Amino acid sequence: MSHAKELVQQMTLEEKASLLSGADFWHTKAVERLGIRPVMVSDGPHGLRKQDAEADHLGINDSIKAVCFPAACASTASFDRSLVRTIGEAIGDQCQHEQVAINLGPAINIKRSPLCGRNFEYMSEDPYLAAEMAVDLIQGVQSKNIGTSVKHFAANDQEHRRMSSDSVVDERTLREIYLPAFEAAAKRGKAWTFMCSYNKVNGEYASQNKWLLTDVLRNEWGFDGYVMSDWGAVSNRPKGVEAGLDLEMPGSRGINDAEIIKAVREGRLDEKYVDLCAERIIRVHERYFANAVPETPWDKEKDHELAGKLGADCMVLLKNEDSILPLKDTDHVAVIGAFAKKPRFQGGGSSHINSFKVTSLLDALADKANITYAQGYEIGTEEDNEALVQEARKAARDADKVVVVAGLPDSFESEGYDRTHMRMPVNQNHLIEKLAEVNPNIVVLLYNGSPVEMPWIDLAKGLIEGYLGGQNVGTANRMVLYGEVNPSGRLPETLPVHLEDTPCFLSYGGEGNTAVYTEGIFVGYRYYDTKNVPVLFPFGYGLSYTTFEYSNLKLSAKKIKDTDTLEVSVDVKNTGKMDGKEVVQLYVRDLQSSVFRPLHELKGFEKVFLKSGETRTVTFTLDKRSFAYWNTQIHDWYVESGDFEIEIARSSRDVALSENVYVEGTTEVPVHFTEDSIIMDIMACPKAAKVFNASMNQATNLFGGEEQSEAASEAVSDEMGMAMMRYMPLRSLISFGTVDHEMLGKLLEAMNA
Ligand code: BGC
Repeated sequence: MSHAKELVQQMTLEEKASLLSGADFWHTKAVERLGIRPVMVSDGPHGLRKQDAEADHLGINDSIKAVCFPAACASTASFDRSLVRTIGEAIGDQCQHEQVAINLGPAINIKRSPLCGRNFEYMSEDPYLAAEMAVDLIQGVQSKNIGTSVKHFAANDQEHRRMSSDSVVDERTLREIYLPAFEAAAKRGKAWTFMCSYNKVNGEYASQNKWLLTDVLRNEWGFDGYVMSDWGAVSNRPKGVEAGLDLEMPGSRGINDAEIIKAVREGRLDEKYVDLCAERIIRVHERYFANAVPETPWDKEKDHELAGKLGADCMVLLKNEDSILPLKDTDHVAVIGAFAKKPRFQGGGSSHINSFKVTSLLDALADKANITYAQGYEIGTEEDNEALVQEARKAARDADKVVVVAGLPDSFESEGYDRTHMRMPVNQNHLIEKLAEVNPNIVVLLYNGSPVEMPWIDLAKGLIEGYLGGQNVGTANRMVLYGEVNPSGRLPETLPVHLEDTPCFLSYGGEGNTAVYTEGIFVGYRYYDTKNVPVLFPFGYGLSYTTFEYSNLKLSAKKIKDTDTLEVSVDVKNTGKMDGKEVVQLYVRDLQSSVFRPLHELKGFEKVFLKSGETRTVTFTLDKRSFAYWNTQIHDWYVESGDFEIEIARSSRDVALSENVYVEGTTEVPVHFTEDSIIMDIMACPKAAKVFNASMNQATNLFGGEEQSEAASEAVSDEMGMAMMRYMPLRSLISFGTVDHEMLGKLLEAMNA
């Protein structure tokens, strides 16, 4: 018997119930009699937000001085598993130092719409990318014996009415889009804890959703940690206990503990569920205490440097006409925009870090000669400030090149509410236009957590999507702008032209408390690429100061079974003059399918560093999941036999090489024919077709007489007739007098045997 179980057996019902909710905003409770100690948990996800004293989870009150790494919108753009692992390790050490047992993150909900106020904290529109990055981040933190809390489970893709909204998502869409990152976090990441979301999922609050918390998370995915509620997400506490919600946070001052006790006493809740929750909580906390190392040093300066270095690999170069970048030391550069002095480097809400130090772009350029700064606009207003615009125009006119730092102010996106549009502040849009009038050499550097419309796109020769780059964002920007580092970020989401182009434009946010995910699996590039919608920049896109060439795509087989794996290799050569990193992307395209599928789906990516002139072979291993879709008949992953195209690509819209493979599905989907089944579906099932054909031959001999069988054979030989026949249900055979009821019954029996 585990130690945790032994402890639970010695506890009173009151003691057990008390363990199932927080003592305050950030601590669990103790049972001193048995030596059960409280632990502290803290946000997450891109640093440590440890509250100093007052319980204020919206980050208004000060938390301890800490280090803010690039937010997930940026770190995911690195497409670099080792980068997020490094961030995770640093956060793990910080938690050890501060004696925080669990860091509340990563946040891995899917970016369903650019409007979600919390997109800056989330990773991607693509479940595969989110899953891969989540696993490494989790493993990074947990390698330091600190737990993660993977959030917000599940389908929490909007802030609008976030505590009451019901995400209505069909089974296949949940499995293919909204759950895979969580699945990977549980199965491969081995996350210590999960945090359930505020919203309902298909009619039931996540905090009391047995299907989600027990059937899927534990029984299917083998999760062995505990689930805590998001702060204030509990509705019916006893129901939550039974569903698998172990810990209520922040804790209801005992009100809900009493509810649990009452429910047990009144026979509404089996005490075994209370035991299970208590045991799971104790077990995870024992893991922390067994390896707590409070002596772990925390060198904040070192982490600040790390944030800058990693941040550089997260920047996405989107435009570079006339090789305007990298800047040269001899260039006279006008740096324009209030953000250059006061950067926006993180989002608002529970993830907000009290940075011990911030390095702006201007700070980072302090040692450079030939820099002129002008503010250009005011943050926090959309009004043009004519004086600032004129000053900026003068600076721009006198310079060789202009770097405009622009983007979204805090009020434009935050936890707690959604955006209502995709615009940047109009004064910033105006400024860019005004500057382009006096100098054609414009580079725009963006700080934003989610896509923006870019009405000035044609006026900018250079464009960098900087996202929210963490507290040392200035250094990261300088490194990329001046070519100290070759940019290697790629877009983890599509940048649409207009809000109206987005896949869920017609239904995002929902009506009242009901948010139906009407676009289904067609999220992000799965929609834009399949429908061929023009976009500003596609998923996976990003430029470099060097060039890469792909060749020699090889598949380990031309034909495999879905139980096999397929090895894919491709040579990548750095054909330019500068060393740099390339992100090799692999998409799988199902060439023929009986269900709706996206044009293609990301199933592999590797980031490789190549010296100028160097070639390397990049390899991928594909398995069943790379080809499968979620089959709602068998409630499982399913591969339909057929040809698939393996695409090696630079972005979702730029396929460099491709090769086909035939994959044979080995799972049989049981088919059940009824009198409403149509001929076409019967013909698609070889066994049933054989039975059907044999019996039809017999029937025409027995029944039809000459006339009918002649007519029938004429019809069959006639193509048009065949086309009509395809859609004919079996019951029509009776109407046409081919069979009687008894024969049809027998036929169905034989076909279903
Ligand atoms: C957020 C969580 C966060 C928690 C604690 C909630 O409002 O949704 O992501 O971990 O607060 O701060």
